[in-house]
Amino acid sequence: MSNVNRKVFTLDEFTIQQLRNIPNATGELSALLRDIGLAAKRVNVEVNKAGLVDILGDLGTTNVQGEEVKKLDVFANEQFMGVLQHGVSCAGIASEEMDTFIPFDDVISRESKYVCSFDPLDGSSNIDVNVSIGTIFGVYWRKTKSGQLAEEQDFLQAGTNLVAAGYIIYGSSTMLVYATRRGVQGFTLDPSIGEFTLSHPDMKFPETGKIYSVNHGNYYEYDEKVQPYIENCQRKNKSNGGPYTQRYIGSMVADLHRNLIKGGIFMYPGTKEKPEGKLRLMYECNPFAFIVTVAGGIAISKKGQRILDIEPKSLHERTPFFGGSKAMIEELETYL
Ligand code: AHG
Ligand code: MN
Ligand code: MN
Repeated sequence: MSNVNRKVFTLDEFTIQQLRNIPNATGELSALLRDIGLAAKRVNVEVNKAGLVDILGDLGTTNVQGEEVKKLDVFANEQFMGVLQHGVSCAGIASEEMDTFIPFDDVISRESKYVCSFDPLDGSSNIDVNVSIGTIFGVYWRKTKSGQLAEEQDFLQAGTNLVAAGYIIYGSSTMLVYATRRGVQGFTLDPSIGEFTLSHPDMKFPETGKIYSVNHGNYYEYDEKVQPYIENCQRKNKSNGGPYTQRYIGSMVADLHRNLIKGGIFMYPGTKEKPEGKLRLMYECNPFAFIVTVAGGIAISKKGQRILDIEPKSLHERTPFFGGSKAMIEELETYL
């Protein structure tokens, strides 16, 4: 087969082709995804060099080239912010790494219709030990009018308003996965050409699965309604074919990516000391709830409330998170 007839799409080719099916599309979302893909490639290069920090220079010091060595999460934040600021689709961003949102104050950005939320580097405790980490993003239509500076209300929207959401996983290979209401598409970075290439079209959460992912060390601290569910995951002779297999990487991106492919449930419950748990609604839970839901799974908070229905009150608020295969979440709901 000639190369011209190949059935492999790069990220750009795919999003541009999708545009043809949407009559009034302006291409702004494609441009935004291309910008995010570019930042992801730059972050990927630095992530791959993370183990060399000790010989090239410690964090916060200067490396052998005399450049300041930045912490990777700060570097990632700057990369994503940079491409979006210079792009044509984004009016501002909110990031886990910054105290407050940043409106982009230039003519093109002010005219843009989207704003983005980011966890630039998720699973940062895994950087030093060569374990998968990621980036998480969400895209909203701004509420304020084009031409104005973006305001806090543009970011403080329920997840149900998301236009798109996605993640990048820096793992044994690097992947960019994004969801719109039309579906979830997975692209693997082909290092030989430096392009994200469609490898996992139309990803679906398996109806059910055998993997449960939770930090077992916190078991006795967890919400009392969650404890019996976790015990149930460990029992044999259940109608659902337990015991399940426990897998926990400690990077939400990597844990949910695996479960999306293999089927499973990922949990970060509230604890006695922190009833809202650890994960942030705007930067981690909402984007993933959107992806999980489009893929046919379910994402809930405590008491079974849908994550996507939560009306956020502040940019950095946290929420318990339970997401994954439909049948497994429905089983959990009987405990909550
Ligand atoms: P971040 O590196 O962005 O702060 O996020 C880490 C998060 C999440 O990725 C992961 O699921 C969770 O922290 C792990 O927390 P525990 O170590 O408490 O289990
Ligand atoms: Mn995170
Ligand atoms: Mn982070």
